[in-house]
Amino acid sequence: MLINFIDILKTAKEKHFAIPHFNINNLEWSKYILEECNKLNVPVILGVSEGAAKYMGGFNTITGMIKGLIVDLNIKVPVCLHLDHGKNFDICKKAIDAGFSSVMIDASTLPLEKNIEVTKKVVAYAHQKNVSVEAEIGHIITANDNLDTASTATIEECIELYKNTSIDALAPALGSVHGLYKGKLNLDFDKMKQLNNILPIPLVLHGGTGIPNEKIKKAISCGISKININTDLQIAWSKQVKKFISENDAYDPRKIIGSGEEAIKSRVKEIVSLFNTHL
Ligand code: 13P
Repeated sequence: MLINFIDILKTAKEKHFAIPHFNINNLEWSKYILEECNKLNVPVILGVSEGAAKYMGGFNTITGMIKGLIVDLNIKVPVCLHLDHGKNFDICKKAIDAGFSSVMIDASTLPLEKNIEVTKKVVAYAHQKNVSVEAEIGHIITANDNLDTASTATIEECIELYKNTSIDALAPALGSVHGLYKGKLNLDFDKMKQLNNILPIPLVLHGGTGIPNEKIKKAISCGISKININTDLQIAWSKQVKKFISENDAYDPRKIIGSGEEAIKSRVKEIVSLFNTHL
């Protein structure tokens, strides 16, 4: 069964650890992450970007695949299937209608009033279906984006968005970046701490790849309850697969794709331990 993230993130906020959000790209990715989290006995959030959803065939295909894996692999830990960075109401609705248990509405490029308007509409639809909602404020860029498009969240904006929307978790832009960032990472820990004290909902840190372990631990101690990881696993997997291909005359896709299994699983294990995740 899929769960929304409300209870698991509430526990994480109270007990000062972080739940891992791992983005999935295909069947194998999902299988490896589910197997490893089940072995470690930790809850997991599977994030699906719009691009990844298209790549895998669509939201219904993904829901069917994840539900099937939970049954066939006898997964006992809580699993949340979460739309990552849904850019408008229609996309969030599509994911919810297909059975996703959680969505992120990312209206962060819009002015605050518009962000509130769209987020509120998503929350109204999601909550009647027991689906959790994450929203973004300020704008978290991707490594290759124009740096001018980044904007950090203010405390006032975060409070306004929370008060007017009833969201279940907030991703404030506080200096992290998606992907492999080459500049100097400047996370605003003070603001994280203040927001964690002011807001009753959990805080989310995007762009988990490349953040040094010490800073991850500090972010968790400042109140981050969910950390998103994507590029990290992609790098671990591709390194291993490239090595396998260079050393083997393989053509069976199961062997080629599967050669990255241990690389993904061992990173998942390290990340879970870093986040100090437990049930
Ligand atoms: P990374 O690719 O930097 O790990 O970021 C993932 C993310 O934040 C997905 O929302």
